[in-house]
Amino acid sequence: MAPANFDLANKTAIITGSAHGIGRAIAERLVESNARVAVTDIDISAAQSTALEIGSSALPLEVDVASAESVESMTQSLLKEWGRIDILVNNAGIVGRDVPVSDLTEDDWDTVMDINLKGVFLCSRAVIGAMMERGKGNICSVASVSGKEGNPNMAPYSVSKAGVICFTKALAKEVLEYDIRVNCVSPALVETRLIDGMDQQQIDYMTSKIPLGRLGKPSEVAALVHFLVSDESSFTTGQCLDVSGGRSTY
Ligand SMILES: NC(=O)c1ccc[n+]([C@@H]2O[C@H](COP(=O)([O-])OP(=O)(O)OC[C@H]3O[C@@H](n4cnc5c(N)ncnc54)[C@H](O)[C@@H]3O)[C@@H](O)[C@H]2O)c1
Repeated sequence: MAPANFDLANKTAIITGSAHGIGRAIAERLVESNARVAVTDIDISAAQSTALEIGSSALPLEVDVASAESVESMTQSLLKEWGRIDILVNNAGIVGRDVPVSDLTEDDWDTVMDINLKGVFLCSRAVIGAMMERGKGNICSVASVSGKEGNPNMAPYSVSKAGVICFTKALAKEVLEYDIRVNCVSPALVETRLIDGMDQQQIDYMTSKIPLGRLGKPSEVAALVHFLVSDESSFTTGQCLDVSGGRSTY
């Protein structure tokens, strides 16, 4: 029998950007582990189809993580529906344009920062007050090995993910006394539509850096997130855990 600490019965979880890819795999995994899950995404029609497909304890909701107003409205409606939020998974993210710094526009920079980094701040801020009042909570963000290594032609993306890693460490220390754990994961290249927009040279470069010699699967990231949001990882906070086929060893 699986250890009981992996079970998420009676837990509620928001997964941002869960209509597709890694977020969807996390939503599926948490539903399988008996959590009630909000499939939140800017693409509401895809979120609705995903929620229908993964089960009746999945609730689709529209959110733009880069907008404080949209994030507040998502959080308030879930607090009204569920009465509490146990788990937040900050997963929504974009890769941005694949260009060298010399060709980057301010808009390229701001768009990636707003979604990947400000989005993590806004969503965490929106749930943290209610978690502190209850004296319990768990936040896990999806960073990237790009945030540790820095990938060429992906400066905004790499910087945004380095920011997510450091935000995780800072917030974790602020909320220790409330029994709230805050962690993040750093995947290497994973088979999702996120990489569809990258040129083949970039994909080959990033794959060549992975010692296991292949791309990761969304389900492999979901397994690590499940561990971090469950009580099975009760002595782990303020960490960035890799799921990168050995790409970074720190
Ligand atoms: N695929 C990879 O190789 C890889 C590697 C490391 C980290 N990641 C990270 O994993 C996360 C998920 O990426 P993925 O590969 O599953 O990509 P994906 O494109 O399949 O999924 C991203 C989801 O985020 C949603 N989204 C985008 N902007 C949003 C916004 N403003 N508000 C709400 N939702 C929004 C999209 O609609 C989509 O459903 C991202 O944070 C990404 O940076 C991906």
